[in-house]
Amino acid sequence: MSNLIELKVPDIGDYKDVDVIEVFVKVGDTVKKDDSLITLETDKATMEVPANASGVVKELRLKVGDKASEGTVVAVIEASDAAAAAAPAPAAAPAPAPAAAAPAPAPAPAAAPASATGGSSTVEVKVPDIGDARDVDVIEVFVKVGDTVKQDDSLITLETDKASMEVPSPAGGVVQSIAVKVGDKVSEGTLILTLAAAGAAPAASAPAPAPAAAVAPAPSPAPAAAAPAKPAPAAAPATAVDEAGFKAAHASPSVRKFARELGVDLGRVKGSGPKGRIVASDVQGFVKSVMSGAAAAPAAAAAVPSNGSGLDLLPWPKVDFAKYGPVEQKPLSRIKKISGANLARNWVMIPHVTQFDDADITDMEAFRKEMGEELKKQNLKLTPLAFIIKAVVAALKKFPEFNSSLDGDNLVLKQYFHIGFAADTPNGLVVPVIRDADKKTLVEIATETGALAAKARDGKLLPAEMQGGCFSISSLGGVGGTAFTPIVNAPEVAILGVSKSSIKPVWNGKEFAPRLILPLSLSYDHRVIDGASAARFTTYLAQVLGDIRRLML
Ligand code: COA
Repeated sequence: MSNLIELKVPDIGDYKDVDVIEVFVKVGDTVKKDDSLITLETDKATMEVPANASGVVKELRLKVGDKASEGTVVAVIEASDAAAAAAPAPAAAPAPAPAAAAPAPAPAPAAAPASATGGSSTVEVKVPDIGDARDVDVIEVFVKVGDTVKQDDSLITLETDKASMEVPSPAGGVVQSIAVKVGDKVSEGTLILTLAAAGAAPAASAPAPAPAAAVAPAPSPAPAAAAPAKPAPAAAPATAVDEAGFKAAHASPSVRKFARELGVDLGRVKGSGPKGRIVASDVQGFVKSVMSGAAAAPAAAAAVPSNGSGLDLLPWPKVDFAKYGPVEQKPLSRIKKISGANLARNWVMIPHVTQFDDADITDMEAFRKEMGEELKKQNLKLTPLAFIIKAVVAALKKFPEFNSSLDGDNLVLKQYFHIGFAADTPNGLVVPVIRDADKKTLVEIATETGALAAKARDGKLLPAEMQGGCFSISSLGGVGGTAFTPIVNAPEVAILGVSKSSIKPVWNGKEFAPRLILPLSLSYDHRVIDGASAARFTTYLAQVLGDIRRLML
């Protein structure tokens, strides 16, 4: 009376406890014969398990993440009359469809009719019984001529619209010739390669496909006879794996396995293979890009209360520039490599804002020039930088949060005034530090910046001379430009950019007067400093530079 049918997992070769990675149906669904019910995944193959009868799903016994073996009940359906009649006995066990209709679960030891030609032991490895599938895509070739393979080593991957499967070697030996390449279409019996078989292997493995075909009921390709499935979900994936995206990704079983081992979400990997298929190198590239993003995280974690973890960045574009014209390779200097890594981290970890302002330094420059003549006799040079350092110290005293660093949830406020200044050297940028700038005179500061800059250009700065800075100044005034956005030198929270001063007409209430105007660009860490504070800071700085008598207050 009951026409309930149990739909079971068919013969899947030697595999036991295989992962269910997809369930296509739910209770109440009407399924037709051959509709896919679930997908199983082993380390060698993914395979869809089809219904071997039509009907309405009454009970679903498996869910994603379950393990299944041959005979495990996938679902119970109430079969339509015709289906019930067609289905064998009470329960539609492993879809024992006629062998002809059932694309045999392929690769037992690859269906390799070994042809031990003459006295030699050459084995011709052919595409095994892959059921009804014809003209199946070769999507991967794992071996090359001269390779030594062991029995069951994967030789190629085939892909149909339902499954991808690796064809294992039926014998151990040395690859003599390869008859297929990626992109070829193959069917059962297509020659894959020839092997100079080791020992007695060929004879042993030759007839392999037959039994597999005989016992293989389901339309989906069964996995190769190899080690039991061991999908090994990664212990700590960098980011959560979106299972739906993972399943939908176009990749072979070995690449899926590789991705699972590394905890890579295949759905986020861009495939570079034919038809966008993801290959192993795509997974490696993805991991590298994640690692380079994540590499910044630990350093930042110490300084930042709560930062986003890995950045979901595209891999760096790889371009063969020589295709477009002559090129020359020049390795980055050691300084560039170090400062580059620091700049990149600071750029991505710090929410930067840059506040622009102008300082009228007409009077300051008049004084500097006057003093310059005197100092020249003592072989000393006073540049605007010394005044700017003194003015910055005054501003830091007035606005202490600019002289701070983030440490977790705390702000460390410094009570010393060590000012760094960016120095351009043939090997790249370095930032020597003037210690206790608050306790030094203008002349002392000018002398010290000159000496440190010379040392920097000669590559002789000591590490200690670049450490302990509270605030940095990047002066491009001697070079040119009107404004720029310097990058905060972490763990500092602000940096002052100084551009080239120039005479500008300034309205003094009665007329336009020619004044020497110095452009200021203050970049700051917006987590610590508000925009209003930054505007106050630059306004005060401009006032001090506009009237250096204030430095004496
Ligand atoms: N506006 C106009 N002229 C300026 C100026 C400014 N803001 N700042 C300096 N000058 C003038 C100086 O007075 C000097 O002129 P002079 O020789 O006629 O007196 C000339 O420019 C060169 O000064 P410089 O020798 O560079 O001394 P400095 O004290 O101004 O700067 C360094 C010293 C080390 C900061 C500077 O040599 C340097 O390396 N700057 C580049 C910094 C950098 O690369 N920053 C970018 C980081 S992203």
